[in-house]
Amino acid sequence: MKGVVLAGGTGSRLHPLTKITNKHLLPIYDKPMIYYPIETLVDAGIRDILVVTGGKNAGDFLRLLANGKAFGLSHLDYTYQEGEGGIADALALAEHFADGKKLCVMLGDNIVEGSIRQAVEEFRRQEHGAKILLREVHDAERFGVAEIVGNRIVGIEEKPKHPKSNYAVTGIYMYDHTVFDKVRTLVPSARGELEITDVNNAYIREETMTFSFLEGWWTDAGTFDSLLRAANLVEKTRRRSCEPAGRD
Ligand code: DAU
Repeated sequence: MKGVVLAGGTGSRLHPLTKITNKHLLPIYDKPMIYYPIETLVDAGIRDILVVTGGKNAGDFLRLLANGKAFGLSHLDYTYQEGEGGIADALALAEHFADGKKLCVMLGDNIVEGSIRQAVEEFRRQEHGAKILLREVHDAERFGVAEIVGNRIVGIEEKPKHPKSNYAVTGIYMYDHTVFDKVRTLVPSARGELEITDVNNAYIREETMTFSFLEGWWTDAGTFDSLLRAANLVEKTRRRSCEPAGRD
């Protein structure tokens, strides 16, 4: 399976922090934000990774990440999203890279505590379709929200005013090669973007969408509050792992 990190967009919710740099280059505790999704993919056994970036500072990604040595990789792929047409618009740029293979896509501002290895393994064995990872939250209206009936996911609503559940759709998506055909059918949403939620709903209508729950904490880092939360969570986890066993 190949990996894609989506790090385009303008990060307007983080102005003025993002006035002169890309959101995904901002620090989360002791590393740039983009390090975390790359590490998550590498930990899941994915070594063939494309970084989709954009904006005025795209060159800085190359200087920072180079060929991926910091992650134990010998090569990274890059591509450039013009404008900020949405997550699905950024994903469309991965078609050439995917070359018909399955993809694990991760949003560049999503940070997870645990490993996604098991879900990736499950999707390797899944014949076709897609798989998403859900996480229970108390502010579901900030996210794509999954409606689950029995053990089936029956729909996703993007930032609903009245969420039908507390299950947020995290920014970790696994797709077969038909994802690009689905993206081609999309029309821009009210916020003028090609929505990843519309892609996921296309798989749900086809009844080929599976899901599992993400273990450990999960956060995005696209607002001032979530950026701060992300740094605090990383610091706390790092501190715990350094404490001698037996201390609380
Ligand atoms: O964090 C999970 C949520 O991410 C999901 O629950 C939502 O369903 C999904 O739509 C998305 O919501 P956001 O509104 O928080 O996404 P945002 O616009 O902040 O973009 C998230 C990342 O996607 C961003 O860090 C980089 C990438 N992106 C985004 C846009 C709009 C691109 O690469 N290009 C883009 O044009």
